[in-house]
Amino acid sequence: MKRPKIALIGGGNVGGTLALLIANQKLGDICILDIPDVENIMKGKALDVMQLRPHVGSDVNLMGTSDYEDLKNTDVAIITAGIARKPGMDREDLLNINIGIITEVANNLKQVAPNAFVIVLSNPLDAIVYSFYKISGFPKNQVVGMAGALDSGRFRTFVSMETGFSVEDIQCLVLGGHGDTMVPITRLSSVAGVPLEEVIPKDRIDEIVKRVRFAGGEIVKLYGTGSAYFAPAQCAIEMAEAYLMDKKRVIPCASLCEGEFGINGYFIGVPTVIGSGGVERILEFKLTTDEQAALDKTLEVIKKTVAETGV
Ligand code: LAC
Repeated sequence: MKRPKIALIGGGNVGGTLALLIANQKLGDICILDIPDVENIMKGKALDVMQLRPHVGSDVNLMGTSDYEDLKNTDVAIITAGIARKPGMDREDLLNINIGIITEVANNLKQVAPNAFVIVLSNPLDAIVYSFYKISGFPKNQVVGMAGALDSGRFRTFVSMETGFSVEDIQCLVLGGHGDTMVPITRLSSVAGVPLEEVIPKDRIDEIVKRVRFAGGEIVKLYGTGSAYFAPAQCAIEMAEAYLMDKKRVIPCASLCEGEFGINGYFIGVPTVIGSGGVERILEFKLTTDEQAALDKTLEVIKKTVAETGV
């Protein structure tokens, strides 16, 4: 069977980590694309990861480039291009620069790889994935944003740190935008099916939820020069793998809602079924009044940012 081709658009910290993890997991051949100024660095990263393959028994091929023609026949494109936050910034502060970058990426990608399944990571996520969708004209099932997987994974991590239980047995769901107004659905979070509220005292859950909301910023503050990259990269791989292996995983992702959860025409974090059809469906369920109100609030933030894109 032919190996899938995975394009990494943006070869910074997330892109480089993606290359390493994809090669390790033998998921597909990799093309790392970035701007001409850093093309040699991309070639260097590709060659460096090529040389670790003998030690992990991986035969995937890697190349670095700045030429979109090299992205022909891409099966999955993971877009991380754009600037990252510095301490004191929120994700919305990145909009002006990153909207220009995503416009260029969308216009180029639609020429060379119109059938690719596209996973967007660039921030502000919900507005950037919306812009990519509008500018590229890709079908909605081919475009998704990575955020909910990360936010839900962070929730699982903090519950595990609090209780000592394995992350594997902890289920958490975070909906909404990838920002401070995200909506952790505590009611549906559990340890091996046991409701979270029966495992952790209410005040501690509140503390954890607060930490989840600001978890990206916590790392930005610690790094001082950029944002998280190990966990975001792994989350994107989880989504790419669901597509390539037709897994029908249900992952919280920024997907285009057309009536689901009362939302129309916006990308927002919702439980998304990913299989060989890309975004195959959104798993809708009944929210409580409070949860719906919180989701409506996060939608307002997304609408405002989307309006600022001018797309
Ligand atoms: C974060 C950034 C990558 O949440 O959005 O860490």
